Amino acid sequence: MNQTKQVVLNSPLDMHLHFREGVMAQTVIPLSSYSFAGGVVMPNLVPVVNNLERLQGYIKEIKSIIGKDVFEPYMTLFFKEYSYQELEQLKPYILGVKLYPAGVTTNSEDGVAALSKAEATIKHLEELEIPLMIHGETHGFVMDREKLFLPIFEHLAQKFPQLKIIMEHITTADAVSLLNNYEHLYATVTLHHLIITLDDLAGGLLRPHLFCKPIAKRPEDREALVNAAINAHPKLMFGSDSAPHPIDKKEACGCAAGIFTAPIALQALVELFEQHNAIANLQGFVSDNAQRIYNITPPQKSVTLEPVAYKVPAMYGEVVPMFANQELPWSITQVR
Ligand code: NCD
Ligand code: ZN
Repeated sequence: MNQTKQVVLNSPLDMHLHFREGVMAQTVIPLSSYSFAGGVVMPNLVPVVNNLERLQGYIKEIKSIIGKDVFEPYMTLFFKEYSYQELEQLKPYILGVKLYPAGVTTNSEDGVAALSKAEATIKHLEELEIPLMIHGETHGFVMDREKLFLPIFEHLAQKFPQLKIIMEHITTADAVSLLNNYEHLYATVTLHHLIITLDDLAGGLLRPHLFCKPIAKRPEDREALVNAAINAHPKLMFGSDSAPHPIDKKEACGCAAGIFTAPIALQALVELFEQHNAIANLQGFVSDNAQRIYNITPPQKSVTLEPVAYKVPAMYGEVVPMFANQELPWSITQVR
């Protein structure tokens, strides 16, 4: 029988999420700003966020939607070839720069085609102490894309020893192992990659709402990710990669990649950590590790969860969340 009565999380952080713009932003931002104290906002909009004007406009939109909620949006810039002066000017507004290899995921067409041409900018990031967040996938076979990218992480870690490098949304046991090889290499992991494997997506009837990049992998990969998370591996942070798409883009012939998890993330994480008798490590995984790694102090927010059933809505606006219509055993019962 479950003996845990209450779980209190201090300033939970979501270190990778997609807020979008316009109507979609109005739907999804309040769901994160309610239960999290801060989050890292991805820049893959159309057009991408890669200059001061666009960044300031986006910050303004996000802050107006957050309103009175206690939530710090940690902003990112879409990687392009920036000059030192540009980055110096942009640095006060951002937590890091996000590098997408061209064409590997949603709205990444303007990403990096040749890493050799990116290295001058990466050098500036190192000098300015701006972290580099990377979507680490190649154009190889879909199940191997992350593994094939790992040598690139190693190359960058060796060439830029002072640069904080974050492997975003890791999905493989190999990526977890690589964390131990370089002091300045870190990672985020999503909720869904701690829960599903390729079987859940495509082993039976195809489930488009579980389709994302990187694609869910093998049971042994999930096991390595879960082990690292429940032990609050000091190089690993929670980043939901909550990526909303309207239902007509998901339930379509040509389904958009992205799983929407923001409103159910903390409830499902508590369930997972509870199952592994690891509630004591959840605070490290959802906040303390990120604070230490990025050297940030988020606003104070205390989120209480209790073992009270939570019925996940079928939709939020136009978006179907993970676990739609299902009951989760934990609910958020207080936010202060
Ligand atoms: C993300 C999106 O929709 O913006 N999609 C996804 O499958 N995760 C982009 C990303 O983080 O790869
Ligand atoms: Zn993402």
